[in-house]
Amino acid sequence: MNKVGRNDSCPCGSGLKYKKCCVNNAATKIKKGPESMFQSLKAKYKKRHNIKIKDDGQIAGIRKSGRLVTEALDQAEKIIRPGLETEEINALVHDMAMKNNAIPATLNYRGFPKSVCVSVNEVICHGIPGKRTLAEGDIVNVDITYILDGYFADASKTFLVGDGGPDAKKITNVARECLRRGILAAQPGAFTGDIGHAIQSHAESNGCSVVREYVGHGVGVAFHEAPQIPHYGKKRDGVRLVPGMTFTIEPMINLGDKKLHILDDDWTAVTSDGSLSAQFEQTIVITPDGNESLTPFDLG
Ligand code: MF3
Ligand code: CO
Ligand code: CO
Repeated sequence: MNKVGRNDSCPCGSGLKYKKCCVNNAATKIKKGPESMFQSLKAKYKKRHNIKIKDDGQIAGIRKSGRLVTEALDQAEKIIRPGLETEEINALVHDMAMKNNAIPATLNYRGFPKSVCVSVNEVICHGIPGKRTLAEGDIVNVDITYILDGYFADASKTFLVGDGGPDAKKITNVARECLRRGILAAQPGAFTGDIGHAIQSHAESNGCSVVREYVGHGVGVAFHEAPQIPHYGKKRDGVRLVPGMTFTIEPMINLGDKKLHILDDDWTAVTSDGSLSAQFEQTIVITPDGNESLTPFDLG
């Protein structure tokens, strides 16, 4: 390999300049080439942040799991209508897992009783499917995590039930755009704080608020891995993003105040002011030149 200049892109594949990346810890390893650089970055992220950087085989596994998640979201969208019991969404998501040798990750996760989270209107997240029926004008978030061949993929979408009024449309559009901007900010060499900043700026400039208590998370070989991905924050805060990191971005955006409380079932998080809350989530992987969604769907 030719000598790597300080301003050349780092051979470890991070997308950073060499001087901003491995120059200090890899002066000797550089002679051995990119694979060894990748291994040293991987070890550094595990040790410093407990982040599990994935190899191509693992990413392929998460991608396959993610395809099943997006298929299930598409099927759920098809049955959503006024009068539907949220339990029927659970049945669909559970059956889809069974037919494909997948495990619905939420079932019995820390005592969660169902195979999917279904969160209607003022429910921010972790709604438990049951007897509640959807009404014209509601919004409903369906959040699915499957484990396929040991690989976790996590994604969610908020749907309008029927046509939806102006508030329902507004909060759903703002939350979707927050995820789109968050993903755009997730570049190699950027920071977790850049993602949060992009999301918070968009939400607040539209008069909406960002939930603080729940964050995006590493995902792939476990449900919730390091790092946390806050949906608010300052540019250049947090951990630097490098290729092979897999994590969710899943902004929960409220039409009113950000304050929440948890219902007596110990799971359901609702807005304290009763205002609508919407969420979109995808699992992404950082690549040498940007990112790839492993649970892709259109964000407009
Ligand atoms: N899918 C959720 C997330 O995006 C987690 C749900 S955990 C549960 O992280 F227990 F509530 F199902
Ligand atoms: Co998640
Ligand atoms: Co989720």
